Amino acid sequence: MSILRTEGITKRFAEFTALNGISLEIEKGEIRSIIGPNGAGKTTFFNVVTGKLKPTDGAVYLDGKEITGKRPHEIAAYGIARTFQIINIFPSLTVFENIALPVLSKKKQNMALFTMPQFQDHVKDKCRDVLSEIGLENEIDTIAGNLSHGDKKKLDIGIGLARNPAVLLLDEPAAGLNPQETQAITRLIKSVAERQNLTIVLIEHDMDAVFSISDNITVFQQGIVIAEGRPEDVRQNKLVIDAYLGEDF
Ligand SMILES: Nc1ncnc2c1ncn2[C@@H]1O[C@H](COP(=O)(O)OP(=O)(O)OP(=O)(O)O)[C@@H](O)[C@H]1O
Ligand SMILES: [Mg+2]
Repeated sequence: MSILRTEGITKRFAEFTALNGISLEIEKGEIRSIIGPNGAGKTTFFNVVTGKLKPTDGAVYLDGKEITGKRPHEIAAYGIARTFQIINIFPSLTVFENIALPVLSKKKQNMALFTMPQFQDHVKDKCRDVLSEIGLENEIDTIAGNLSHGDKKKLDIGIGLARNPAVLLLDEPAAGLNPQETQAITRLIKSVAERQNLTIVLIEHDMDAVFSISDNITVFQQGIVIAEGRPEDVRQNKLVIDAYLGEDF
């Protein structure tokens, strides 16, 4: 059974149809990329899946359970975490504190625990695990705002991982990164997915990154799916070449 499934998701903004019947099935442990031109509806799709927007029509299922139209915090509690196109960290807190907040909130505890002598070791251990997973274990006390752009993107992913999600949605994890940073974040995404058998759905415009890590790719154009499949098949698809990839890719 697929871990994440959508059935005929349609989203209209007044007269404008941003999504027009999107049905996807994503398997546990899969890395799925969603690609397509600007305005194709990719972020809107994430917004519907995470409860930020209610769909006009259609349904979303997580592990077989319908979650359509639930509130964002409920959907997060069911196990879907996301990052945004724009980095969403607390710049004035340390790297450790940025990870500790979602770990504690998952456990329904708060930062006041930091001041308690018996601040639980398992919370600290979880934070350290996440930091080593994202390769920031040496930046534990760094103020997050002082990190390089590449490390901020890693921290952003770490904040998502800290809640132990079943599905992690990444909206343009390589945006604004140079080629070396893009390779580093690509490796990180792949290793997290493999080590934790985590399902990752990512929206991305960097085609080298997309084609190197995806198990499957779904192509959106003007709110519909125009192609879907393994990277080697999508790369040769005439519709996708015309709509997005171009002849030279
Ligand atoms: N809240 C909203 N109200 C009205 N229109 C919206 C809203 N959100 C998105 N849209 C429109 O829906 C369309 C799809 O937008 P969306 O942000 O999903 O595109 P995208 O595929 O993520 O593009 P990009 O690659 O540029 O991030 C766009 O035309 C956008 O202007
Ligand atoms: Mg977008």
